[in-house]
Amino acid sequence: MDLWGCPAVVTGAASGLGAETSRHLTEAGARVTVIDRDAAGVAKVAAEIDALAIPCDVADSAAVEQALATSREAHGAARVLVHCVGRGHAAPLVGADGPMQLDDFRQLVEVNLISTFNTMRLAAADMATLEPMANGERGVIICTASVSVYDGQSGEAAYAASKGGVVSMILPAARELGRLGIRVVGIAPGLFGTQTLFEMEKNLDSRLARQIPFPHRFGDAAEFAQLVLHVLKNIMINGTVLRLDGGYHR
Ligand SMILES: NC(=O)c1ccc[n+]([C@@H]2O[C@H](COP(=O)([O-])OP(=O)(O)OC[C@H]3O[C@@H](n4cnc5c(N)ncnc54)[C@H](O)[C@@H]3O)[C@@H](O)[C@H]2O)c1
Repeated sequence: MDLWGCPAVVTGAASGLGAETSRHLTEAGARVTVIDRDAAGVAKVAAEIDALAIPCDVADSAAVEQALATSREAHGAARVLVHCVGRGHAAPLVGADGPMQLDDFRQLVEVNLISTFNTMRLAAADMATLEPMANGERGVIICTASVSVYDGQSGEAAYAASKGGVVSMILPAARELGRLGIRVVGIAPGLFGTQTLFEMEKNLDSRLARQIPFPHRFGDAAEFAQLVLHVLKNIMINGTVLRLDGGYHR
């Protein structure tokens, strides 16, 4: 996809992978809308890259619908959605205080899974209204999963389940939306040095990085953003979830 002048929406854009993806998309010429519940953070990123900032909690489906409408009015319907919003959550099923609160799990599913489905369906409906480009493509939707889906650790049952649903929707969504010229791709990051990682790994230390076969370090958000740009440009990548983890399997 030629990103020059292309309307793109990034969620979870106030920090980490979403913020860096927004910077890379802007450098590639896209007109970016940055969405996050952190109003100050998303305004700061937007000011840096001259993007449209929309504060929005993605757990509020009506607010997401409004945010996408605001983006559409400003830039036109987005051809690119990168849904980076996610919440880390490391907690035992049964801890010292008893079983994990079911509401904690519900909130996690709301932010990590339901928001992905909601944003995907709304963005796809917008993309369907666009004229296809010369190669027949109307748009690309990229969702963020996690290697915890495949290699979830003790204490990650809730988080892994909330991301597992994201992985499961990629292929059927790509099959359905392919007839409209819309690709759907997932990225499953390993260990990236962002706020989410610090929430998941309370005792973060260099031993964890040494368990990564190569390179022996946490991923850089720019490496995630580079993969996003490659996926956008390479029309053959579709209906799959790409691990980005330096070979890390715990
Ligand atoms: N960092 C890692 O090691 C890692 C590993 C696997 C998967 N991931 C996934 O990558 C994605 C990006 O995470 P990150 O590492 O950049 O973390 P991050 O904490 O730096 O960024 C997440 C962003 O999402 C926003 N957010 C959270 N809940 C929200 C809500 N309800 N509404 C709107 N915005 C909300 C936060 O304000 C934050 O800006 C997440 O989906 C995360 O689960 C990260």
